[in-house]
Amino acid sequence: MFISGAGSNMAALLYASRLPGSLYEIVLVASNVAGARGLELAALEGVPTFAHSHRGHARETQDGAMEDAARAADAQVIVLAGYMRILSDSFVRRWEGRILNIHPSLLPDYRGLDTHARAIDAGESHAGASVHLVTPALDAGPVLAQARVAIAPGDTPESLEARVKLAEHQLYPHALTQFLAERADSGPG
Ligand code: GRF
Repeated sequence: MFISGAGSNMAALLYASRLPGSLYEIVLVASNVAGARGLELAALEGVPTFAHSHRGHARETQDGAMEDAARAADAQVIVLAGYMRILSDSFVRRWEGRILNIHPSLLPDYRGLDTHARAIDAGESHAGASVHLVTPALDAGPVLAQARVAIAPGDTPESLEARVKLAEHQLYPHALTQFLAERADSGPG
């Protein structure tokens, strides 16, 4: 799993992975930010961690360092959970069909940053979150699952973000589990 920040989705995925019947285990939490809060939590919970700062490194070099760590941990799938770096096309192609991301909007609406402020400003009735497969184009891969969150009158980007996060924490373990179950059904290869 790749993160850059607080790691609340990482935490949701981790605790879900420890419930009976889970289809997955988190073998590594890796970050481009050495002090990421999520790394501390992962370490506290006994999950191996890895950090490699992107600063001063070409995109391919950064991706290569993260990938080496993922392969050394025998990761089968890369889960992005608030990883604030765009991955190189070559990395995405090597892991095609095996990288998931969560984005805080109802894709294809509001790709990119500041999704909550933009949805409020546009007068939308709902915001939400989407789990999607990662392809070279930003936030544009096939959507696997979505959660809708009503926008309240008077919502600020912060208050909306907090509610969308609650939905994200339910959505991501559910979407990952469904993805893995379908992968297992389709057999090896
Ligand atoms: C989430 O809102 C996620 O949708 C976006 O980045 C944020 C990460 O938050 N991609 P956290 O680190 O999981 O708390």
